[in-house]
Amino acid sequence: MKGLSEPLDPRKIFVRNKYSRFPNILAFASGKGGVGKSTLSGLFAMYLAQKGYKTGLLDLDLYGPSAHIILGAPLEGLPEEENGVIPKEVNGVHFMSVVFYSENRPLVMRGKDLGDAVLELLTITNWSELDWLIFDMPPGLGDTLLEVAELTHARYIVITNSSRLSMESVEKLLEFIKTENLEYHGLVENMVMNGGLKYIRDKSEEMGVPYLGIVSFYRDIEKLYGDPDALMSSPLKEEFDRLFENIVEGRK
Ligand SMILES: Nc1ncnc2c1ncn2[C@@H]1O[C@H](COP(=O)(O)OP(=O)(O)OP(=O)(O)O)[C@@H](O)[C@H]1O
Ligand SMILES: [Mg+2]
Repeated sequence: MKGLSEPLDPRKIFVRNKYSRFPNILAFASGKGGVGKSTLSGLFAMYLAQKGYKTGLLDLDLYGPSAHIILGAPLEGLPEEENGVIPKEVNGVHFMSVVFYSENRPLVMRGKDLGDAVLELLTITNWSELDWLIFDMPPGLGDTLLEVAELTHARYIVITNSSRLSMESVEKLLEFIKTENLEYHGLVENMVMNGGLKYIRDKSEEMGVPYLGIVSFYRDIEKLYGDPDALMSSPLKEEFDRLFENIVEGRK
């Protein structure tokens, strides 16, 4: 199995085995903050559920959880428990987030505690059988990324904006992914206006990273939050179709 070196910690071995049964784990990640990881992971999870796939979404941005807003998850009532915590079903997506417990209180943790919290969240969540499991990752290269890389065979979908500034930090993440031999699907250029930036396509080609496609800047994106019908009749649907094809194609 790909990933960082084999863990010796029995808790980690347990989680590795647990997640090895999921056929497809997609981690929406970026070296940069605010480029649309949560928006795209939340909407893409809803899109997959609309296509009839059993889909899970795990918000792994513990400092700034936001996937619940994209998915339209109500925060009232804790998730049910049975052999762990059962993800809530929201708009067809099995959804888990610390926000059910923290609500609007800030989570303040040191790096070591953050790693432990990620491990625990992965451990306690009792997923049903899933065709696709999606992780909404926090920005940058930190403890959460290291935990996910060590514990799962997630394949990375790396998000950038149409800007050199964003691509600069994304290149560092891609370097890390390649150096550690992690699996990846490729790069998505989000919030694209006027066809995208040639620099980004050129860079991805230079690095040998598949360019999965664009997601246009969509002024009314907030109207799609928690509304699968609106999503499926929006211009993003076609762009998601292309992303999906490229993801499935790249998996073969
Ligand atoms: N395609 C798009 N069209 C228009 N607005 C978008 C698009 N994608 C994302 N946004 C907006 O960009 C902002 C940042 O998006 P989001 O929170 O998903 O980024 P993020 O990468 O998850 O950020 P963070 O690093 O803080 O977790 C949000 O206001 C969101 O509505
Ligand atoms: Mg986010």
